Amino acid sequence: MQIEQNKMWDQFYASAAPVYFPSGFAKDMLPKMEKGWNILDLGCGNGRDSIYFAQNGVNVTAVDSSREAIAHLREREPKVKAVCGNVVTDPVLKEKNYDGIYSRFFIHALTEEQEEILLARCYGALRAGGSLFIETRCTQDELCGVGERLSDTEWLIEGHYRRFIVPEQLVARLSDLGFTNIQSMCARGFAPFHDADPVVLRIIARK
Ligand SMILES: C[S@@+](CC[C@H](N)C(=O)[O-])C[C@H]1O[C@@H](n2cnc3c(N)ncnc32)[C@H](O)[C@@H]1O
Repeated sequence: MQIEQNKMWDQFYASAAPVYFPSGFAKDMLPKMEKGWNILDLGCGNGRDSIYFAQNGVNVTAVDSSREAIAHLREREPKVKAVCGNVVTDPVLKEKNYDGIYSRFFIHALTEEQEEILLARCYGALRAGGSLFIETRCTQDELCGVGERLSDTEWLIEGHYRRFIVPEQLVARLSDLGFTNIQSMCARGFAPFHDADPVVLRIIARK
């Protein structure tokens, strides 16, 4: 499954489809960061948000498993430390003391088992008081239920795997790990794209 998904993302980033402007989530989260912060962008894609943060004074390490995506990012912004790897296993999360971990439209690309491992690693990699920023697809999305059913929350649409996140379950997992001040919001208008405006989940939490 992971190899097929990597191939799909490589093809996507080699095409003309990806966008390069920063997401609404990145624009909304930048004021919650400080200049000079060290952050991790997990599943950064072509680095649209990493580049925006780096150009606004934040030190960014960005990780994605797509070689194509990381090659684009390295070409466009050398200030970003771009790492090609699987975030669930990459040593980048063994480093400690990140001020922030940011992840947009990525958690839903992971299986539940991968999410569990990743979030525990995120907790370990943040400094005390550090922040976690997540934007992800959730079960209120109209796409949940479309395509080939793998489980109630997992669907394959034209070969594209998505696990729609149950908001309360993610909040409970973060709380169990020790995260505090967990704010979660589900709404439309956060991530409009072409003619779609799905309900998406945003989470901000503190270690
Ligand atoms: C929907 S894209 C989001 C990209 C970017 N964050 C954005 O908002 O435009 C999901 C990304 O997750 C990456 N990805 C999926 N599974 C991964 C994994 N296990 N480790 C690292 N990256 C992964 C894919 O290559 C893809 O670039």
